[in-house]
Amino acid sequence: MNQSTAIEIRDLVKIYRGSEKAAVNHLSLMIPCGEIYGFLGPNGAGKSSTLNILCGLRRQTSGTILIEGRDFREYSREIRQKIGIVPQDIALYPTLTAYENLLLFGGVYGLRRKELDKRIREQLHTFGLTSSKNKQIQYFSGGMKRRINLIAGILHHPCILFLDEPTVGIDVQSKRVILDTLKELNARGTTMVYTSHSMDEAQEICTSLAMIDEGTVIETGSPASLLEKHSECRNLEEIYLKLTGKRLRD
Ligand SMILES: Nc1ncnc2c1ncn2[C@@H]1O[C@H](COP(=O)(O)OP(=O)(O)O)[C@@H](O)[C@H]1O
Ligand SMILES: [Mg+2]
Repeated sequence: MNQSTAIEIRDLVKIYRGSEKAAVNHLSLMIPCGEIYGFLGPNGAGKSSTLNILCGLRRQTSGTILIEGRDFREYSREIRQKIGIVPQDIALYPTLTAYENLLLFGGVYGLRRKELDKRIREQLHTFGLTSSKNKQIQYFSGGMKRRINLIAGILHHPCILFLDEPTVGIDVQSKRVILDTLKELNARGTTMVYTSHSMDEAQEICTSLAMIDEGTVIETGSPASLLEKHSECRNLEEIYLKLTGKRLRD
């Protein structure tokens, strides 16, 4: 099957001001349409830096990002309409209700009020949050906030969804509904780029992945193809340790 390319990353470099070491170090990657594509690696590997540049939240030091063949720097307005962002740090207004937060986020994408209201109700239902619709976010648990954070990123039905550690630090039930929803969205055609340091989780949901260490890609492939290639390893974690060694990274 000839899969078209959703994202192409060419020789990406990010050096933060005041830092001598590159956070992203000549990273190149092709991400085909229709994947749940994982960036896997330990803390400080450069996953968030790469993801934030891909979705336009940060600027690269050098290198090129093409989203569906278009350079982000030239077509940022068009691209922003097509992508969704679920950041690692929850970006919700604590004193507004869940519903009010979602109205704000959906409004940014120019959705009409009636359609937006319909989508918000549907998503709150899917994520088991209907009865908390009118509660202020400050009274939500961590897992509930993560679910709202995810809804905020998908209300406009993006073609490509970027998620940074969407299940970190939450209860098992919240994690389950998030992972199942991601799989469902993917089955309906959404391409996803997702970061995680959980190799187990990645093994479950990723169709392809890039293992990242010290700002660069050290291995790519589907979970099955990687397990076949590194046949002495029982799981992704063992492959990762084989490739990177056991030295602590931070
Ligand atoms: N805003 C920033 N300013 C300076 N250094 C940063 C900033 N954000 C991240 N870094 C550094 O860049 C490297 C990669 O970080 P990050 O992309 O957050 O990794 P990951 O998401 O894989 O944990 C780390 O060494 C981190 O300390
Ligand atoms: Mg990160």
